[in-house]
Amino acid sequence: MKKIILGLFILTTSLFAKETILVQGAMDIETEYLIKALSNPVKEQIASWTFWKGEIGNKTVIVSRTEIGITNASAATTIGIMKYSPNLIINQGTSGGHDPKLHAGDIVLAEKVINIGAVRTERKEYGIPADDKDGIFFEDVQRIRDSKGNTVDYPYFSSEKKIIDIAKKIDYKNGKIVVGTIGTADQWNRELERIKFIHERYNTSAEEMETVAAAQVAKAFNIPFMGVRILSNTDIHNEDFNPQTAIWCQEYTIELIKKLDL
Ligand code: 5AD
Repeated sequence: MKKIILGLFILTTSLFAKETILVQGAMDIETEYLIKALSNPVKEQIASWTFWKGEIGNKTVIVSRTEIGITNASAATTIGIMKYSPNLIINQGTSGGHDPKLHAGDIVLAEKVINIGAVRTERKEYGIPADDKDGIFFEDVQRIRDSKGNTVDYPYFSSEKKIIDIAKKIDYKNGKIVVGTIGTADQWNRELERIKFIHERYNTSAEEMETVAAAQVAKAFNIPFMGVRILSNTDIHNEDFNPQTAIWCQEYTIELIKKLDL
């Protein structure tokens, strides 16, 4: 009898337990629209990082302004997890195009996420010029230690497949939706030869400065992750940063959040 009551209790609490989604953007223009979409928002500041907790439909949503770059995104993700125990982390925002097929306004669903700044070189003597092409991917940077104390090197991190599948079906009018690879580094690359080189080496669709940090920390905590990046600029087609794309990405993310049934 006790077991039945316990079973019923677990069933009802899991049925009615609210989904909690941590949704991240680095800058004000990448978070303000999301914050406006929250009902009953409560703001909380922890050191340099700001969170707004509220609701979208029947889900608890925490908007996190991570600030720019890998260090900031790692800290914001860790704090967000420790404080709000999300069952999904969505990292969204702007990016620069690496794939010639893509234009500003197109959205990349991050099937793979890789730290394109994780590079080591073999020793070279004085007089031998540095050359990006001699860089070797430094896989130790993407290493995670599991609860048993074993380490695993991840060649890349991934978004949840079932969430990519839902995201693919969203009606979006400002560009294409593609599934691809996001490359993260504390870099903003505008040299076309360098963009081409990174694209050919890592098969990147776009570059930006936070996704891998969030994905890696999410993986270490075993929390499902989803990366959504809109191209805001692409030097390949001479398309300069368009701030409106940050709004489109948030609109799309809100649609995604509404469609999710975690
Ligand atoms: N390269 C790097 N980061 C970019 N961002 C937008 N476009 C690019 C680009 N071409 C995003 C980063 C960072 C901010 C400066 O803009 O993710 O948060």
